[in-house]
Amino acid sequence: MNISLNRFSRAVALTATLLAATSLTAGTARADDSEGIVVYNAQHQSLGQEWVDAFTKQTGINVTMRQGSDMQFANQIIQEDEASPADVFLTENSPAMTLVDAAGLFAPIDTETLDQLPEEFRPKDGMWTGIAARSTVFAYDKTKLTEDQLPKSMLDLADPAWKGRWGAAPVGADFQAIVSALLQLKGEEVTASWLKALKENGTSYKSNTVAMKAVNAGEVEGAIIYHYYWFGDQAATAENSKNVALHYFKNQDPGAFVSISGGGILKSSQHQKEAQAFLKFITGKAGQAILKTGTSYEYAVGKGAASNEKLVPMPDLQAPKIDAAALNSKKVVEMITAAGLI
Ligand SMILES: [Fe+2]
Repeated sequence: MNISLNRFSRAVALTATLLAATSLTAGTARADDSEGIVVYNAQHQSLGQEWVDAFTKQTGINVTMRQGSDMQFANQIIQEDEASPADVFLTENSPAMTLVDAAGLFAPIDTETLDQLPEEFRPKDGMWTGIAARSTVFAYDKTKLTEDQLPKSMLDLADPAWKGRWGAAPVGADFQAIVSALLQLKGEEVTASWLKALKENGTSYKSNTVAMKAVNAGEVEGAIIYHYYWFGDQAATAENSKNVALHYFKNQDPGAFVSISGGGILKSSQHQKEAQAFLKFITGKAGQAILKTGTSYEYAVGKGAASNEKLVPMPDLQAPKIDAAALNSKKVVEMITAAGLI
């Protein structure tokens, strides 16, 4: 009795093992072919979609993209912790990457992927990587301002002479990254007084697009935004930028800040291989070429990768040297709040 039961148990165990092996194979196949990966995309939706489509076409790995904003997703990932359904997180700016990294929720990026980027576009710890970059600009009304009337530095906008003449979009992650750079470069006192000047002298808009439209409509003479809003509109109908030109502060000015968009892989991801493949793809030749030929007008950051030729070449931007991984978004949100801007 015992013996036959033992034999029976062994047979059951063997069958179970075989079944498990079969379902494991089926499970792996499912992960590759239909289940795929989930990307929390805080980059512009159109750019995220261009990357996802090209990646799926090349690898057959499906991607479910969820759309949100930098800080919203960073906070959500921290709250979800190990239960996060996200495999990959893409941002517009680096401070949201730094938040998730500081919470210890990223897996190290494959060396092969990191090697595709110059050191200036990735953090030293290798826990996330740059995927694109964007330049701060002063978008101005060219029907009202001549070049000699433009501010030499972004800090000049705090001058009472600029009262009522400029604006920005303080609620957005883009502006918050710009202020983080200002804080890193010039310290708390200068940053606080510049924010105070924006509150007192400037107009707060709800997005970069709205700020550019306001310049175009003659509501203000200029606004601090990122460069690609103008290029995107020019390439479309130009209806929101026909009166607008871009002024680049250059000269390592805080207003010449180049912000790095980031990509990271969640430590909790059950699809590490596919997630790593995705970041390798977007930082590689094909992924970076999408920045050159697509509609994002953001800068490519891969080694040897060219950006759209309509853009001012990256070296000519004369951006200040910034440690992207050390941008302090928490402090900046506190300061922007204290200034009464959000
Ligand atoms: Fe943006």
